[in-house]
Amino acid sequence: METAELKIFPDKDALARGAADFVEARVAANPGRVALCLTGGSTPEGMYKLLAKRSLPWQRIHIFFGDERFVPIGDPLSNARMACRALTDHVPIPSAHLHPIPTATSGPEESAALYEAELKRFYGAETLDPARPLFDLVLNGMGDDGHTASLFPGAESLNERIKWAVAAEPGMEPRVRRVTLTFPVLESCRAAMFMVSGLGKKETLQRVLAGEDLPAARLTPQGPLTWFVDKAAAGAQ
Ligand code: 6PG
Repeated sequence: METAELKIFPDKDALARGAADFVEARVAANPGRVALCLTGGSTPEGMYKLLAKRSLPWQRIHIFFGDERFVPIGDPLSNARMACRALTDHVPIPSAHLHPIPTATSGPEESAALYEAELKRFYGAETLDPARPLFDLVLNGMGDDGHTASLFPGAESLNERIKWAVAAEPGMEPRVRRVTLTFPVLESCRAAMFMVSGLGKKETLQRVLAGEDLPAARLTPQGPLTWFVDKAAAGAQ
C-alpha cells in the first residue's frame, strides 16, 4: 500500500475541478478498457457534471458503484440516479457499460449477490489477483461518522474479506438499507481517491488522517490514494 497524498482546494468548486482533472488523467493512463467505481452522496455531483463536459473515451469506459441505497433507480436517494442525471445521461457511454447495483430485487442481500456475480463476470475470475486490479480508479466519499461507501463504524461488513458485495444497515441518514462493496474490492484498484468537502467533515477528517480506526481510514488501496479536500474540511485558513 502506498502512502496517501492530500490535496487541499480553496472551495468545493475548485475541488470538483481538481478531481475531474485527476479522473481524466487516470482514464488517459489506460489505453484499454477502463473501469471506474463511482461513489454516491452529494459531494461528487459537481465533479460528475464537469466530467460530462470533458472529452473522455466513453466507448471504452465502464462505470460501477461502490454502494447503493436499496431504493428504485428513479428514487431521489438513488446513487445511480444522481450519477445518471449528472454524468452518464450526457455522455456517449454504451448502456452495456453502465453497471448500477440492481435494486429491483427481493432485498439488499439478493442485490449484493447479483452484483458480486456481475463484478466477477467483468473481472473474469472468482478471486481478485493483486497483480491485476479490478478498477482503474475508485472514487470514495466520507460521511461525518467516518463511513465510506456503506461501510459504517462497527459494522461486521468492515471485516468481510471473502464476499465482494454485502447488504448494509445504515449508520446514519438516509436510513434506507444499502448494498456496499467490501474493502478487498474497493482496494483492488490502480488508484483511489476521496472527495471531502465542508466544515461539517473537518473533525472527522482530522480523526481519519490521524489514523483513528474509522472505516474511511481502513481503506488501503493497492494503488496510490489521494485525498481531495476543500479548505473548510481541511480546517485550513
Ligand atoms: C452514500 C455514499 C456515501 C457518501 C458519504 C458522503 O451512498 O451515501 O456512497 O459513502 O460518499 O456518505 O456523502 P456526502 O458526499 O453527501 O457528504
